[in-house]
Amino acid sequence: MKEKYPSDSVCIMTDLVLPGETNPLNQLFGGELLARMDRAASIAARRHSGYIVVTASVNHVAFNRSIPLGSVVTIEAKVSRTFKSSMETFIDVWIEDRSSGIRTKANEAIYTFVAVDDSGSPVKVSPVVPQTEIEKQRFDGALRRRQLSLVLAGKMKPHDATELKALFV
Ligand SMILES: CC(C)(COP(=O)(O)OP(=O)(O)OC[C@H]1O[C@@H](n2cnc3c(N)ncnc32)[C@H](O)[C@@H]1OP(=O)(O)O)[C@@H](O)C(=O)NCCC(=O)NCCS
Repeated sequence: MKEKYPSDSVCIMTDLVLPGETNPLNQLFGGELLARMDRAASIAARRHSGYIVVTASVNHVAFNRSIPLGSVVTIEAKVSRTFKSSMETFIDVWIEDRSSGIRTKANEAIYTFVAVDDSGSPVKVSPVVPQTEIEKQRFDGALRRRQLSLVLAGKMKPHDATELKALFV
């Protein structure tokens, strides 16, 4: 299958935080951010694969900074590595200062999608060739994260998670 770059799948979504989307502290509600990230990341996975994609797991979400009401939020998602039918997708979330326009990283997350055919059966996807330093780091760590996700889901025996175990010995 034809190799693809992470930049081939990139999806950038910019939107506002409106009153109906906040918690009682007037900060973006966590579930709203999860949904926005899922949307952007699923578009990236769909761009990479050319198939319908379903969210298989949310492996990591770091709510490092709250996002105040009225913020302009930019979500950038791209596929970091693929296996057979699954695609690890990294999501970076930025907020921008109203007057200077300077962007600050607020959150990040890692979602895994599976490409499926019209009947919902997994289908094979193209491999990823990372280009930048950060893309290479994310590519290298993806196998460990896949093993951790499968172990936590009860779909892999800890004994078989060799890459993951290597971190602890
Ligand atoms: C995700 C789904 C397609 C996996 O189907 P399955 O019958 O378990 O198929 P398989 O065991 O062959 O797994 C398919 C791929 O998913 C990966 N996968 C399954 N569960 C996973 C998890 N928890 N974490 C990471 N990867 C996972 C497998 O490793 C495999 O990857 P590979 O093909 O790259 O090796 C199926 O469970 C599903 O449709 N779930 C519902 C998805 C959904 O409704 N999402 C929310 C709405 S979009």
